[in-house]
Amino acid sequence: MRRLFRGRYVVPSVLAGAVGLVGLLMFAPGAARAAGTGASTGAAGMRSYATAGTPASGATPTPCTLATATPTTSGSPISYTSLPASCIPPGEQLFAANCSSCHGTDAAGSALAPNLRGVGAGTVDFWVSTGRMPLADSSIQATRKPPRFDRLQTLEIAAYVQSLAPGGVQIPSVDLQQASVSNGGRLFTLNCAACHTITGAGDALYKGAYAPSLHQATVQQIVEAIRSGPGNMPRFGPGNITNQEAADIAAYVHGVIQHPSDPGGFGLGGVGPVAEGFVGLLFGVGLLMLVSFWIGERS
Ligand code: HEC
Ligand code: HEC
Repeated sequence: MRRLFRGRYVVPSVLAGAVGLVGLLMFAPGAARAAGTGASTGAAGMRSYATAGTPASGATPTPCTLATATPTTSGSPISYTSLPASCIPPGEQLFAANCSSCHGTDAAGSALAPNLRGVGAGTVDFWVSTGRMPLADSSIQATRKPPRFDRLQTLEIAAYVQSLAPGGVQIPSVDLQQASVSNGGRLFTLNCAACHTITGAGDALYKGAYAPSLHQATVQQIVEAIRSGPGNMPRFGPGNITNQEAADIAAYVHGVIQHPSDPGGFGLGGVGPVAEGFVGLLFGVGLLMLVSFWIGERS
C-alpha cells in the first residue's frame, strides 16, 4: 500500500482523493441543516409569543403589543385572531413611508405594484416577514431575504392593510400537536412536490421563475403561502386543502423536510437522488481507480 503513494501513483491517488473531497464539500449537509435550525427557532419563537400574555378586555382599548397582536392557538389545528385596532395607526405610518411609493396611498395599487386592498393581513405578513417586501427592483421575482421590519412592525402593517378592506387571508396560528406528519407527506407529494421537488430543495419553473427552497419558511409562513399563493404559486383554498390538511403539510415541511433524520448515512444537503448518485459515482470511481492502479502495480 505504501508504494501507492510513491512515483507515478501520487498523481492519480491525489486526484481520486480530491474528486471525492469536492463531492463531499459540494453536498455537505451543513447548509440545509443550518437553514432548518433557523426556521425552527422562528417557529418556536412564534409559539412562545402566543402564550406571553392575554389580551386586555373591557372598556380600555387593547394596546398594540407583540402579545396582543400575535394570534393564539385555540384548540384547532389552525386558528385566527383579529389584530387590535390600536395597531392600525402605526401601521399606516410604516406603510406610507415604505410601501405607498409603489402600492399607492391607501394601498389601492399603481402602475408599479398591485392593489393590496382585500388581500388580508396574512398575505401582507407573508410578503413582509419573508423579506420579499419592500421590493427594491420590481423587474425580478421577489426573493426571500432578511426582513426589514421586526415582528411587531410587520403585524402593524398587516393590521393597516386589513383595515382598508375586509376579507383575504388571515394570519394563522398553527398547532403542530394536532397535525399528522404522514398525511402531510402524502399531501405534499400530491400538491407541492411538482414545483418545490420532493425534498423541498426548490426548482426552476419557466421563463426565469423558480419555486424556492422550503428549508427556511416558518410553519406560519407555510400556511400563509398555501392560502395566499404568492407569485406563480397557485392559491389553495379550504375547498382544496382543509385547515387540518394545511397544518399536516406544515408539520411535514417543518418536521421531515427541514429536520430530516437521514437514516442510513449523510443527508447530502437533502438535494435528492441525483446528488446522491453523483456522490456515489465519485467515491465509487475514485475507489475503483485506486484498486486498479494497485492491481496494475502487482502484475
Ligand atoms: C419597489 C416597489 C415596491 C415597494 C416599495 C413595495 N412593494 Fe409590494 N409589491 C411590488 C410588486 C411589483 C409586487 C408584485 C410582485 C410579485 O407578484 O411577484 C408586490 C407585491 C406585494 C404583495 C403581494 C400582493 C398579492 O396580491 O399577492 C404584498 C402583500 C405587498 N407587495 C406588500 C408590500 C408592503 C407591505 C410593502 C411595504 C413594506 C411593499 N409591498 C413595498 C412592489 C413593491
Ligand atoms: C406551480 C408551482 C408551485 C406549487 C404547486 C406550489 N408552489 Fe410554493 N411556491 C411556488 C413559487 C413560484 C414560489 C415563490 C413565489 C414568489 O416569491 O414570487 C413559492 C413559494 C412558496 C413558499 C415560500 C418559501 C420561502 O421561504 O419564502 C412556501 C412556504 C411554499 N411555496 C409552500 C408550498 C406548499 C406547502 C405547496 C403545496 C401545498 C406549494 N408551495 C405548492 C410555486 C409552487
